[in-house]
Amino acid sequence: MRERTVFALTVLTLVLLAAGYWVGSSVDLMPFQASTRSVLVDGLFRILLGVATVIFLIVEGALVYAVLRFRRRAGDESDAAPVHGHTGLEVVWTLIPAVLVTGISVYSFMVLTDIERPGDDALVVEVTARQFSWEFYYPDYELTAAEVHLPVNRPVRFLISSGDVIHSFWVPAFRAKRDATPGQVAELVIEPQTIGRYPVRCAELCGFGHAGMITEVVVETDPDFRSWIAGQRAIPSDPIEAGRFLFGRYGCGACHTLTDTGATGVVGPSLDGIGERAATRVAGLDAEGYMRESILRPSALVVAGFQDGLMPPNLGERLSQQELDILVKYLLGQ
Ligand code: CUA
Repeated sequence: MRERTVFALTVLTLVLLAAGYWVGSSVDLMPFQASTRSVLVDGLFRILLGVATVIFLIVEGALVYAVLRFRRRAGDESDAAPVHGHTGLEVVWTLIPAVLVTGISVYSFMVLTDIERPGDDALVVEVTARQFSWEFYYPDYELTAAEVHLPVNRPVRFLISSGDVIHSFWVPAFRAKRDATPGQVAELVIEPQTIGRYPVRCAELCGFGHAGMITEVVVETDPDFRSWIAGQRAIPSDPIEAGRFLFGRYGCGACHTLTDTGATGVVGPSLDGIGERAATRVAGLDAEGYMRESILRPSALVVAGFQDGLMPPNLGERLSQQELDILVKYLLGQ
């Protein structure tokens, strides 16, 4: 009898371990692995998933077994037998979780220290979240962009902050997420390992345009990255091309619709045909004056039906005089 119990328990244990291994290794819930840390994070996730599977099967199995085996039979009106407890069981079900939790803590800590280790020769990118766009600044190149390009296989140090409320910088393919908090700078180190384009999202509800706070991270070869940098530093000479370029660089399309650029934002007023309307908007302001004021002091000229305080108030500091001229001229041509 005793031998049969031991045999049954051994078979059960092997079946449970096999089930945990199978679920942990074959279930594919994570997005593409685009950074070195994603491999480590996914490894940890698979172990946790496997352990959780075994625990789930034990707990649910015991529950179903007890429900069936000890249910009240028809005609049985007696009380259940009084049971006080079982010291052996108590010790086992305290010890096993304690060992598991300690093991998982140590492993998680190892993964954490591994992925947070600052890389050598890291490229610094300052990320600023704003309602409702992302701005990326490369101090090494004194360059601002609305999407972030990274050379493959070189560590990147993101320094993340916010210009208004709390946002969260999230690149699922990198397994990287960090809150963007006004007045604080959070650091995030990653190393992209696969060339491609991956979505950047905001993971903290930050207002009306939260769902539209999407851009892309582009991982490319070092020469491609360098030519992108060179291209970004030079504003195109064609005035319309230059206007589209600046509209993109400053993330205007996150909130405004402008068919010429493919932008479909709805947080702010549509800019389609703005050139025809601008002159008639405010008495005493000609079209150009209205456009300039709207960009430099958006709160003074909020269009009826739209919320104040959503357009960045500091474009006057971020745009150079030349950039402002280009943008105003371009928008008046729409
Ligand atoms: Cu920014 Cu949600």
